[in-house]
Amino acid sequence: MERTLILLKPDAVQRHLMGKIIARIEDKGLQIVGMKLRQFPKPLIEEHYAVHKERPFYADLVGFMTSGPVVALAVEGKDAITVMRTLIGKTNSAEAAPGTIRGDYGMSFSNNLVHGSDSAESAEKELALFFADDAELCDWKPVGRTWVYSAEEGVH
Ligand code: RTP
Ligand code: MG
Repeated sequence: MERTLILLKPDAVQRHLMGKIIARIEDKGLQIVGMKLRQFPKPLIEEHYAVHKERPFYADLVGFMTSGPVVALAVEGKDAITVMRTLIGKTNSAEAAPGTIRGDYGMSFSNNLVHGSDSAESAEKELALFFADDAELCDWKPVGRTWVYSAEEGVH
């Protein structure tokens, strides 16, 4: 099992899309093991996007991500990082495929609704940033898991 950090960005919250996006994650068979709604402090967002520090869009990105409440989710599943990136779709929402979250709900490059960790290394770092205390994450086993995966997939 793998865990990934998902953010519902301020545009998703303002457009009342939280429920729809969370439903897609649950419908897929992924499991939410952590969730918080907060207007996160600027230093935390700066650290989260530190990899883009030298890019021209960095200041606008940080400004956007601190402009209102964001939902942070810790999502668990087999290959959760890749599965979530596929579910989210291409960075530019206008080009994202129909059926993806960005493809179905967005038109913008920067207001693109959702963030998902892009590697195991980033997921570990980002989860520690947004869920600093282990007690904020819940280890639980959904009763339906034996139907989401086959026995051969080894996650029962
Ligand atoms: P995210 O990190 O938010 O999940 O998005 P991503 O992996 O699809 O895209 P990434 O390359 O990591 O870029 C992070 C966010 O920065 C904004 N961006 N603007 N104007 C530009 O050229 C540009 N490039 C990136 C987007 O909001 C993107 O989600
Ligand atoms: Mg990224």
